[in-house]
Amino acid sequence: MNKGEMLYEGKAKKVYLTEDPAQAWVEYKDDATAFNARKKGAITGKGELNNQISAFFFRFLGEQGIPHHFIQTLSNREQLVKKVAILPVEVVVRNRVAGSLAKRLGLEEGMTLSVPIVEFYYKSDELDDPLITEDHIRLLQLATTDQVNQMRKMALDVNGHLQKLMAAKGIQLVDFKLEFGLDNEQRLLLADEISPDTCRFWDTATGKKLDKDRFRRDLGDVEGAYREIWNRLGGEAHD
Ligand code: C5P
Repeated sequence: MNKGEMLYEGKAKKVYLTEDPAQAWVEYKDDATAFNARKKGAITGKGELNNQISAFFFRFLGEQGIPHHFIQTLSNREQLVKKVAILPVEVVVRNRVAGSLAKRLGLEEGMTLSVPIVEFYYKSDELDDPLITEDHIRLLQLATTDQVNQMRKMALDVNGHLQKLMAAKGIQLVDFKLEFGLDNEQRLLLADEISPDTCRFWDTATGKKLDKDRFRRDLGDVEGAYREIWNRLGGEAHD
């Protein structure tokens, strides 16, 4: 497998073509952005850690029956995935109040939600990724009703599996964001990445934030927090 032409460069990853039109080569970068790239930086080691953490989560979710894009890791910061057309909808699942939910509804950070909630956001840098309803998704034709139902169900299934996995490692899954894509047979697959960039993880014993909020809020030791997640998942033992 060879790395071909660069297809796309995002905030945290570069995507390349391969000789197989059904597969893409993803390279995880150390670059970090927040607040729609109004805050920029780099976190040493982030690319390698997120590549490995994301690979671990996708393998785990695959074992639980969730269809996904991940194929294999290629190097410390690269992985091979199925090429998909990403739907322009970000799906967020929340178990506790944090981030934009606290701000939008004036709720205190940390409040436990009795039932997880699912939110949809429109992936649009120009519009700052606004919160949207299912009717908006239909209006903009971002996904079909069936795809929306599937995304909601898969997101809640992912939540159940990840919550249980992380709880056993002494970590609370506060919230996370998923992206989905369609493969060349129009199958809906879980795609993009699952990492401390896209999830909020709080240490169960101390409440310490072990995710990108350390970067967003200048809490320090961002790399240490990402490494802690990797170590709790078994870290180097997977290599
Ligand atoms: O900022 P907000 O509270 O809406 O984020 C909810 C969850 O989605 C967090 O875990 C955050 O890291 C993730 N997220 C993301 N990419 C975005 C927006 C949110 O990974 N563009």
